[in-house]
Amino acid sequence: MTGLNTTPPWARAAAYDALMWPFERTALGAWRRRLAAHASGRVLEVGTGTGSQLRWYAAGAEVTALEPHPGMAARARRAAMRSEASVKVVEGVAEHLPFADASFETAVTSFSFCTVADPAAALGELRRVLIPDGCVVMLEHVHLSWQPGRRLQSLAAPAWAAVAGGCRLDRDTGRFVREAGFLVLQERSHVFGWIVEIEARSLVRLRRPPISG
Ligand SMILES: C[S@@+](CC[C@H](N)C(=O)[O-])C[C@H]1O[C@@H](n2cnc3c(N)ncnc32)[C@H](O)[C@@H]1O
Repeated sequence: MTGLNTTPPWARAAAYDALMWPFERTALGAWRRRLAAHASGRVLEVGTGTGSQLRWYAAGAEVTALEPHPGMAARARRAAMRSEASVKVVEGVAEHLPFADASFETAVTSFSFCTVADPAAALGELRRVLIPDGCVVMLEHVHLSWQPGRRLQSLAAPAWAAVAGGCRLDRDTGRFVREAGFLVLQERSHVFGWIVEIEARSLVRLRRPPISG
């Protein structure tokens, strides 16, 4: 599958959940709740993993949760049953979304854009499947803007990616979002700028008016 990084040893679904459990019980829960509060109508969640975000969606949301790894997707299907929202888990990669143009009102990502192999292609696909003026909300860890943190992340990134299934510590997700033609409405940072919440809108593509005469 193009765009899919290799499965890291820790990505065995149950191990991933065990590793994340203390964080889910602390700050992550509040951030995830806020992320889900933006999600309305037809929602696409990209890189859903074991489905940690699914329990936060409200009844009424119609969520399609995309995940490439079958083991993670199987666990996400179990998490989906505990969600108040209507959730369908689909296997696939963000770079080639198996959905028609303008299929969703909202796209949600949490800690997946560090791992997506081609973030520019994935964001291009998100623009395609979102309605004009659709909303993308993200909770992601990013490349720090300050030194020496940024430099240290750059140095550690290749080794970390090798053991962590392609997860990049040096991903400038906010920059990719802007370059893809989204308008960033809000950006909130946590943990000295390491983790960000981004709310952006897909700008309507203006068609050139026909030349008259
Ligand atoms: C660190 S996990 C985050 C899981 C979940 N969103 C969460 O918040 O816990 C990253 C997820 O992104 C998925 N992923 C990796 N490459 C992807 C791609 N190209 N398209 C979609 N998802 C991808 C991985 O399989 C993994 O489940």
